[in-house]
Amino acid sequence: MTTTPPSAVTVYEVGARDGLQNESTTVPTADKLAFIARLVEAGLRTIEATSFVHPRWVPQLADAEGVLEGLDLNGSVSYPVLVPNERGLDRALAAGVKGIAIFGSATESFAQKNLNRSVAEQFDMFAPTVTRARAHGMDVRAYVSMCFGDPWEGSVPLGQVVDVGRRLFDLGATQLSIGDTLGLATPGRVHDLIEAFGATGLGPDDLAVHFHDTYGQALANSYAALEAGIRTFDASAGGLGGCPYAPGAAGNLATEDLVWMLDGLGIHSGVDVAHLARTSTWMAGLLGRPSTSRVVQALSAQDDEPTPGGTA
Ligand code: HMG
Ligand code: MG
Repeated sequence: MTTTPPSAVTVYEVGARDGLQNESTTVPTADKLAFIARLVEAGLRTIEATSFVHPRWVPQLADAEGVLEGLDLNGSVSYPVLVPNERGLDRALAAGVKGIAIFGSATESFAQKNLNRSVAEQFDMFAPTVTRARAHGMDVRAYVSMCFGDPWEGSVPLGQVVDVGRRLFDLGATQLSIGDTLGLATPGRVHDLIEAFGATGLGPDDLAVHFHDTYGQALANSYAALEAGIRTFDASAGGLGGCPYAPGAAGNLATEDLVWMLDGLGIHSGVDVAHLARTSTWMAGLLGRPSTSRVVQALSAQDDEPTPGGTA
């Protein structure tokens, strides 16, 4: 590592939202709550719980209110939720949510497909949502999607990503998450984009990274981000995930793969990787297919639990 390694980082767990939103088989609310409870037992402290989007757009998360009813929103675990607009914010406020995430697109095509808005119109939708959320004391994360490529438009100019990301953050967000929706990023590009955001005044403390693992690059990209100073990493238990409006998007970086690497580097995440892997194996059983995470596969094939090489 070229920069001084941090002693600890934040893992922002998206398994219950990004992980499940793309599943065609409906996961019962009780199973979602059991999943979240197990994530907490494994040590995760920031868990994106669900989405207050239009239920017709993401039927899997139509039970958002039911999920929130089953969570302790006043404890030590944060449960942010996705909210696209004021209608979603009203629902989140009624549910007692403390933090939301808006989700913008760097490209016109994905803005239309995912939000039924142009890039310019998305800001009009988000602006009052963010202002009201902040007035209620909420944390507001802003995602910027399609940062490294788009299924309809191909590669996306770095300046375009920085412009949209900066504008989303300037609406009043407390953090910007750099979204590699399709999993197209590679480490050099990750480094360049973080540097480009830095040149506009958005430093590592303002940023998080959100890598999908379609091409097997998500862990390498996370390491590049770590070297660039990032301290918040999105990941999904077992590598679940994908976006129903982004054809070709595979699952997120598996939380177990991330934590295995962090453990090996001696960087504290608070997550018990073996415990989490058992949860992902359990969820894989519910969904009827094995986890894509190499760490989950390796751990579930062994009776005793090895530790990552190089642990300090
Ligand atoms: P729209 O059809 O343009 O909505 O959808 P509208 O504003 O025209 O309203 C139409 C009707 O929907 C109205 O009802 C509204 O009240 C209702 P009516 O008056 O006709 O009876 N409505 C709602 N109902 C419940 N909850 C709401 C809501 N909003 C409006 N929040 C909209 C616009 C944004 C709602 C729609 O496009 C939508 O829900 N999109 C969500 C898509 C989505 O969830 N995609 C996946 C998440 S993004 C992602 O995964 C990427 C990420 O992981 C980062 C990365 O990987 O890059 C975050
Ligand atoms: Mg995503």
